[in-house]
Amino acid sequence: MIDIHSHILPGIDDGARDVAEGLEMARELVNWGVKKVIATPHFLENGPRLTPEETREKVGEFQERIVSEKINLEVLPGAEVFITADLGKKVDNGEVPTLNGTRYILLELPLEKVPAFAEHVFFDLKVMGYIPVLAHPERNIGIQKNPNFLYRWTKYGVRVQINSGSIMGVFGRKARKTAKIILRNRLGHFLATDAHSRGKKGNCLVRGMEAVRRTAGKPLTREFKENSRMLVENRELLPSEPTPFVPSGKLTGLILGKKF
Ligand SMILES: [Fe+2]
Repeated sequence: MIDIHSHILPGIDDGARDVAEGLEMARELVNWGVKKVIATPHFLENGPRLTPEETREKVGEFQERIVSEKINLEVLPGAEVFITADLGKKVDNGEVPTLNGTRYILLELPLEKVPAFAEHVFFDLKVMGYIPVLAHPERNIGIQKNPNFLYRWTKYGVRVQINSGSIMGVFGRKARKTAKIILRNRLGHFLATDAHSRGKKGNCLVRGMEAVRRTAGKPLTREFKENSRMLVENRELLPSEPTPFVPSGKLTGLILGKKF
């Protein structure tokens, strides 16, 4: 398996504090069947932000340590990029690391709401040939209130990554409920750990995939695994047929469903 979202790169953000912890996280991933991981340190407006070149250098150094420790894991460069109104410009200037240098960019929304400029940013990135991948939108309060934001966005090419911890209940009842809606309405494309340290329940992609299977069936787990491979190789993802979310049995739900 491939984990496309992890804070394994040591000493950069709120993930692995030092090389020793990064190596422990690497061993944990391997124990649970992960062969490749994209290191996605936070890229923030006011906080840590590595350039694509710095990211490649640091990933290269960390990979050397992993090899010297005889851990069978390939680490690839990436970032989890916090959305800002001018993100298109930063990407155009070459300041922003993409996932393994591909056209896929992992985007983080603020947890409390959907910013008014979000769709403009998606549009800017699409026009430049990039594919926005939303990191754990099931944790966003605006999307928890109206999951059909994702229906609208996936229709025009935004892709969606769910955290394995969300589907296992690590981030609370609302995130789990929204993750299930995303799965059942085929609004998601990837499952990843978003691991920040070792030993957390959500770090186990195998158990996460099992929860996906129980919620939406085995074909979706296959699709998620295949999509992660396609992303790393900069290929098109498998086609999926999203459906709008309709809250069960409520007239308001029908109205909401028709809205998109
Ligand atoms: Fe993250």
